[in-house]
Amino acid sequence: MDNNSYFRIRLSTIRPDKVTTFNIYILIDGKYYLYLKIGDRISNGKIETLHNRDTGDSFFVRTSDKELYRAWVREEMNSNQLTPEQKAKILRESSIAIMEDLFEVPDVHQALDDAKPIVADFIDFMESHPESMHFMLSLSGHDFYTYNHSLDVSIYALGLGAVLGYDKKTLEELGLGSLFHDVGKRNVSLDILCKKGPLDDAEWAQMKMHATYGLQILNQHPDVSDAIKAAAFEHHESWEGNGYPQQIRGQEIHPFARIVALTDTYDAMTTQRSYNKPMSPLDALTMMKEKLAGRYDPEMLKAMHSVLFKMRAA
Ligand SMILES: [Fe+2]
Ligand SMILES: [Fe+2]
Repeated sequence: MDNNSYFRIRLSTIRPDKVTTFNIYILIDGKYYLYLKIGDRISNGKIETLHNRDTGDSFFVRTSDKELYRAWVREEMNSNQLTPEQKAKILRESSIAIMEDLFEVPDVHQALDDAKPIVADFIDFMESHPESMHFMLSLSGHDFYTYNHSLDVSIYALGLGAVLGYDKKTLEELGLGSLFHDVGKRNVSLDILCKKGPLDDAEWAQMKMHATYGLQILNQHPDVSDAIKAAAFEHHESWEGNGYPQQIRGQEIHPFARIVALTDTYDAMTTQRSYNKPMSPLDALTMMKEKLAGRYDPEMLKAMHSVLFKMRAA
């Protein structure tokens, strides 16, 4: 494996006084410097100062140590010294690196493989701490990065899948499908993705292509299931048949895509974006039920209530 490649970690996944099993680097002026050696620990005082400086883009681990880092996170999940809230945050923050890979590095295949253990960790966490799921949602309400959004959509989708009675294998597939639902945005220009304010017709047409691009990207990987592809390709279809790109309707839309359609809108409504104010969970659900009802599977919309109730977010 390339010894010169690094992936970003959040320092908040590292607990003080626990020795590390991997080196941690910092990036200064485009160069990586060893910051914390294997076997060292960060003192409590130091970690606090660092947290204040940690904007999420400062700490790195070698790609060749990715497994060690994952094992570290998994060990933390089994630790009895941490509260469910602390565990949820570590899990969430440790998955950000995967999301960056997904949208930024050329190798989508690797990102797909890396995402599998993360989704499995999410499901384990949901099973052991259902009341703490909401701690896994985005910590910062102020940005709408595609990867924050994708993670949140995936967490809601898993909650919805569990309420709908999906077994573990199906949940794992749903977790992946919802994480990758917007993967086609890789092929939409950043100017359009990051534009503040409404898109013009041509830009909007480009943006809408992300569903089709998503299918094209996933089609290049033989082991991606049809259900995962459907989550990407059909998540902007509408129950009434006036969505895109195929204008299919009702049960014709894959259940995964119906789940993502719902959790996608819900997340967009309740998250701060540059040009709209976030709605409260209750307002968002009411609007979806009253004004937008025709777009979603009515049974799933009902189930979403109990998901939010369970997550105590509503
Ligand atoms: Fe989308
Ligand atoms: Fe989305």
